[in-house]
Amino acid sequence: MEVVIQPDARAGSVLAARLVAKQIRNKPSSVLGLATGSTPLALYGELVRMFEEGRTEGHPLDFSHATSFNLDEYVGLGPEHPASYRYFMQKNLFGRVNFKLERTHVPDGLAADVEVSCGQYEDAIREAGGIDLQVLGIGGDGHIGFNEPTSSLASRTRIKTLTEETRSANRRFFSEGEEVPRHVITMGVGTIMEARCCILLAFGAGKAQAVADMVEGPISAMVPASILQMHPRAVVFIDDAAASRLKRASYYRFVFENKPSWQRY
Ligand code: GLP
Repeated sequence: MEVVIQPDARAGSVLAARLVAKQIRNKPSSVLGLATGSTPLALYGELVRMFEEGRTEGHPLDFSHATSFNLDEYVGLGPEHPASYRYFMQKNLFGRVNFKLERTHVPDGLAADVEVSCGQYEDAIREAGGIDLQVLGIGGDGHIGFNEPTSSLASRTRIKTLTEETRSANRRFFSEGEEVPRHVITMGVGTIMEARCCILLAFGAGKAQAVADMVEGPISAMVPASILQMHPRAVVFIDDAAASRLKRASYYRFVFENKPSWQRY
């Protein structure tokens, strides 16, 4: 696992965006795995900026041949619901760059048969050739996607029940008095691990313990993100605050400062 510590969320997001842009430029038909939450907002903002700047300067960051699969969605919320992840993606990325809508995928929160729909989601990822680059955030309890602690580390796309901790953390995205759904559809930990490259972003002191458990703790279903220790290409972009509980932070900084030029972001 490569740990990249930056002074703030902005700097970490810019580096992560460069990695995503490089992926798209090297392979325009890339399959991207995408995440929601407040963490990837600056990354998406930077991709939008690069897209717009590229258009005026004649070297566009072209998403028109790319395919995307989002990690998760709330059961019961349709694309028009402002707290749905389809709505989030439309507002923050898909509607602001030149993604082809038909090549963007978010689990169907309104599926009549959830199990069938989850199987179809897995099939669609496979048929697209698998995910080249997966963007991830992390929950305060170490979840990735909506794979809460004790999720099988081999799990596939399925329905999950949220913990009360996650429901209350995400309440801010819902209007007052509105219930946060109890159920979600999420790619499994096993699905995520099949992506060829995973980048995980985490910023702020509130993520420090989850980051330390993920990077330096034992691999455990209690911290689903810790399975990324087994991934051949996982890069973690964090800020100083999120790095504050890492034992080996000075080593990760030393590694980053001494990267060979061809390996830099
Ligand atoms: C939700 C999402 C996760 C995300 C997490 C953290 O649970 N399903 O993908 O990583 O929230 O969210 P935030 O980035 O807002 O802290």
